[in-house]
Amino acid sequence: MIDQLEALFAQVQQSNLQTKEDLESFKREVIGKNGKINHFFEDFKQVPKEQKSAVGKKLNELKQFAEQLFVEANERLSDHESDQPHDITLPGNSDFGGGRHPIFAVQNKIIDVFRRVGFVVEDSPEIETDWYNFTALHFESDHPARDMQDTFFVQKGTETKDDILLRTHTSNTQIRILEKSKPPIRAIAPGRVYRNETISVRAHCYFNQIEAFAVDEGISFADLKQTLLYFAQTMFGKNVKIRLRPSFFPFTEISAEMDISCLICEGKGCAVCKHSGWVEVLGSGMIDPQVLHNCNIDPEKYSGYALGMGVERIAQLLFRVPDLRLYSQNDLRFLQQFQSFA
Ligand code: DAH
Repeated sequence: MIDQLEALFAQVQQSNLQTKEDLESFKREVIGKNGKINHFFEDFKQVPKEQKSAVGKKLNELKQFAEQLFVEANERLSDHESDQPHDITLPGNSDFGGGRHPIFAVQNKIIDVFRRVGFVVEDSPEIETDWYNFTALHFESDHPARDMQDTFFVQKGTETKDDILLRTHTSNTQIRILEKSKPPIRAIAPGRVYRNETISVRAHCYFNQIEAFAVDEGISFADLKQTLLYFAQTMFGKNVKIRLRPSFFPFTEISAEMDISCLICEGKGCAVCKHSGWVEVLGSGMIDPQVLHNCNIDPEKYSGYALGMGVERIAQLLFRVPDLRLYSQNDLRFLQQFQSFA
């Protein structure tokens, strides 16, 4: 029996397990229930006493060796299997690794456009006093323009103390920055703003704005116009045209709203631009000399321009999301669609 065992051992040592079929037949013929090794175990009872120890030892060695061989070959083959080319027609794994919120992706893009031409990012408080949000920006106390922006008041003021409120626009940064800096100044200030509006498809009680402004000697409306054109074409594409419409803001004189040629129909007229060929983008103007004066900047010497835009508005032009509320509902099915924009 020992000779037969050695013969089988030699055979096992030489076995070349390369395929699944090799493995299966090895299992069936050698290590399986009806395999040769098990038959040896069954015959073991008949082995004469004096040979039992030697035969038993050999048999166990053979069993261990054969099983080890099988396990290693099996691992090798399954590793190899994962190297095989995948079926590219199978649906992909839906693995959402997270991404920037579309509003902040757009905000970063706008900031980037302005930073390239020397604007510095600034920050300012969302809880503000009446002075920074209104009065210093030349909103007279009974000026109807205050009604344009329904304000959330945090604390009503007294004779000596200003009202405290949630800022209604990022224009407060004009005062905050101009007050503490010396021209030349070029700043861009993104941030959240609040208005007491009923939440609907088109309006929200909070949204995001970006303010940009420049103050220096000799700044003119031509500088504003060139900056607006640069912004529009870098943001929306080289072929975009801009149009300035006269407007009114208390803190700018003269004031203009900027439209761009419709991105969908390129100005020919479609449902998105209500067949006008133009869509509204932002407000802008030359900073009112009184505002410079309020910040202790000499309006005789310096002039400046300012512009302000809603980030949701820009996102709307880029993504055509029909309902503004989707941006604040944290629905992953919505957010996942913008993963590649960031
Ligand atoms: N603050 C204005 C608003 O919230 C937007 C704006 C208009 C900002 C004209 C400006 C500007 O800097 O020049 O509606």
